[in-house]
Amino acid sequence: MNSVIEQIRLRRSVRAFTGEPLQARHESALLEYIAGLSHPFGGKARIEYLPLHMGSAPVRLGTYGVISGAPAFLAMIYDNSSALGKTGASYMFEQALLYCTDMGLGSCWLGGAFSRSNFKKLCNLSPTERLPIVSPVGYPVAKAVKPPTPADPALMDRPRKPFGATFFSGSFGNPLTPEAAGSYATPFEMVRLAPSANNMQPWRVVADAAGFHFYKTFSFGFASVDAGIALCHFEQTCRELGLSGSFKALGAYPEGRNAAYVISWVR
Ligand SMILES: Cc1cc2nc3c(=O)[nH]c(=O)nc-3n(C[C@H](O)[C@H](O)[C@H](O)COP(=O)(O)O)c2cc1C
Repeated sequence: MNSVIEQIRLRRSVRAFTGEPLQARHESALLEYIAGLSHPFGGKARIEYLPLHMGSAPVRLGTYGVISGAPAFLAMIYDNSSALGKTGASYMFEQALLYCTDMGLGSCWLGGAFSRSNFKKLCNLSPTERLPIVSPVGYPVAKAVKPPTPADPALMDRPRKPFGATFFSGSFGNPLTPEAAGSYATPFEMVRLAPSANNMQPWRVVADAAGFHFYKTFSFGFASVDAGIALCHFEQTCRELGLSGSFKALGAYPEGRNAAYVISWVR
């Protein structure tokens, strides 16, 4: 398996697939991987693999972006009775999509108006379960990859907010620099590369002596999902780099203006 940093750098939204069904070795590896995932915050979630070949005609499954040729889908299902249920499910779903990237499979988070009733029927939801996201999985149609941007090679062709626009030192409004982030600069860079709905990047992090405090901006409907993806990139990168710590809900942590507290990473 590639390093998680490599997987994060390689992953990008893939919307055009060759139509080729998943090879048995890829399908069984993926099934085994998703069966072994667990909710990072003690909630309940599952990921369903649905071999639903969509044909070669482009279909608008989400509110934006057209998907074609996908031989299968993954569906993200969480139980809404726990506080960070959806956020943790999104963490798991991103782990699954990074694993797909590692096997050379394309994917794309879809939270738009896909035909939920069909997916829901196939997934047999209980009354407390929700299905907010699906992703196609399959072999990407080869596409010319733009060369890395000289100004910021880590970002390749993907537009992202500057480091100091989402990461802060001590309090909101005081931008954190990669230099000041020290050994945590790479985990933060991996957060920057996280996918988010409409590429809104609604995560905000305040660093202080106690650790790193994660927030989500209120402005957008998928902020909890996007926050879960950011937490996944952050923690998985820390683990890979041997930076020890864990997520802790510091209940009384001050709310930022226009941002809701999610959780803290305590060193
Ligand atoms: C929660 C969520 C919902 C998304 N919904 C859609 C969607 O409905 N249609 C679509 O084409 N892309 C969707 N995307 C993909 C984003 O547009 C994409 O991740 C973002 O533009 C960054 O591009 P990248 O994934 O290539 O890095 C979604 C992403 C996330 C995280």
